[in-house]
Amino acid sequence: MEILVTGGAGYIGCHTCLELLQAGYDLVVVDNLSNSKQASLARVERLTGKSLTFYPIDLLDKAALSSVFARHTITAVIHFAGLKSVNESVAVPLLYYQNNLTGTINLCQVMQQHNVKNLVFSSSATVYGEPASLPITEDFPRSAVNPYGRTKLIIEDILMDLHHADAAWNIILLRYFNPVGAHTSGQIGEDPNGIPNNLMPFITQVAVGRLPELAVFGNDYHTPDGTAVRDYIHVVDLAQGHLAALAKLAQQPGAAIYNLGTGRGYSVLEVIHAFEQATGQKIPYRQAPRRPGDVASVYADASKAFQEMGWRAQKGISEMCRDAWNWQSHNPNGY
Ligand code: NAD
Ligand code: WQD
Repeated sequence: MEILVTGGAGYIGCHTCLELLQAGYDLVVVDNLSNSKQASLARVERLTGKSLTFYPIDLLDKAALSSVFARHTITAVIHFAGLKSVNESVAVPLLYYQNNLTGTINLCQVMQQHNVKNLVFSSSATVYGEPASLPITEDFPRSAVNPYGRTKLIIEDILMDLHHADAAWNIILLRYFNPVGAHTSGQIGEDPNGIPNNLMPFITQVAVGRLPELAVFGNDYHTPDGTAVRDYIHVVDLAQGHLAALAKLAQQPGAAIYNLGTGRGYSVLEVIHAFEQATGQKIPYRQAPRRPGDVASVYADASKAFQEMGWRAQKGISEMCRDAWNWQSHNPNGY
């Protein structure tokens, strides 16, 4: 009875592996290491004192994937593997469609062959596009504003079609808001390639001296201080959401969708100030024009996940900042 975690060496994946091992699950991880290092999993094993089975396999290699299912008794799959850079997806859309869509289709076909029909999928709040009102509930209309987001939208539809064709499939779509922070040990965390696109790793790299200053994109949004508002969620809370989803899968829910957020939005300036307060580090910043494609405010109504899975985020913005800094300051150059 093992759980297969695709993309388990990545940022959210390795935090989830840690929580799963601590909860007593046996794990098989598949990752092609295109955006991660195997060191993350070695650290997870060291932190938990438990081991997992790792295969450096690409989801595009269906035969290799099938051999993993033949070798193990897999009961459910948590599917993180995918490319996630919005900018890159605009530049090379075919790569994103091939990797994210074909990878997912291969995975589902192999699962079907081996009669494994329990799946948790990493979707994103990006599928809500520009929301008409706030907070966002799961039944809001969806739209895609870039190829990355379109891969999430299409995969959601593919998985729903699969469930409709065969009700034996139990599928949970988790729509993450903005994952930040790191495990409290400071041993695993976010380790982006090159200059970070996302706010929190950019801030921590400014704090550690790798980058000179933060550009705050836009100060004329319809928000209390003019900067854009997001629902940041601690990655350990997010990881625990996957354990709640696995427990839900065991109840055979059919197909279900949950927002994983805190329900509370913070502006860019509020995040900078929270980081400075939590860490004592000064973050030099300058105002810059809006970033194309950004929306003013995004935050979740996360009550469905609590009502149906008993999960809710526990950690606040100061813990997110403290733990992100603890990771970055102890690992200034990542893994
Ligand atoms: P990540 O890049 O750190 O992890 C993804 C992992 O998948 C990496 O380890 C990568 O090497 C692996 N991978 C990619 N393509 C693969 C393939 N074809 N075969 C095997 N492995 C492959 O990203 P993350 O932040 O941990 O995100 C995990 C998932 O959550 C992704 O699907 C992402 O789109 C989604 N998500 C992330 C965020 C976020 O802000 N981090 C928000 C919403 C949704
Ligand atoms: C947060 C806020 C920026 C960097 C992205 C993806 C989304 C999802 C999560 C995967 C925004 C501002 C940022 C900087 C800034 N990923 N900012 N200066 O854009 O909400 O979501 O990651 O599914 O799909 O689009 O997150 O961290 O990039 O930005 O001012 O250097 O910080 O404008 O308002 P975003 P982010």
